[in-house]
Amino acid sequence: MGSGAGAIPALARDRNLADPVYPIGILIKGKGAMPPMSDMLNPAQMAAVLTYVRTNFGNDYRQPITESDVKRLAGPKKME
Ligand code: HEM
Repeated sequence: MGSGAGAIPALARDRNLADPVYPIGILIKGKGAMPPMSDMLNPAQMAAVLTYVRTNFGNDYRQPITESDVKRLAGPKKME
């Protein structure tokens, strides 16, 4: 059986959230059917939503993701 046009992985108990670089990159660049969030959320908002997801839904990665973490990975492209 196929999976149709794509799949949306659960963020609950998601080990891919352990390394902040991975989910930050997805919010900045998008992935597959997921649009980039960088036109909708500023770096502080991206940091806040990732910190929230990483400490809820069975995830327990206590180290917050900060605005400067997001800006560092966004590179030279100016983000407000
Ligand atoms: C602030 C809002 C969002 C956050 C924090 C978020 C976060 C994530 C993360 C962390 C992943 C990777 C999960 C993994 O590989 O384990 C992911 C994947 C994905 N998200 Fe989002 N997402 C958001 C909004 C959206 C929206 C609005 C859509 C669709 C309109 C979407 C669709 C997808 C899809 C389709 C994938 C799978 C991508 C692939 O591997 O091909 N997401 N998202």
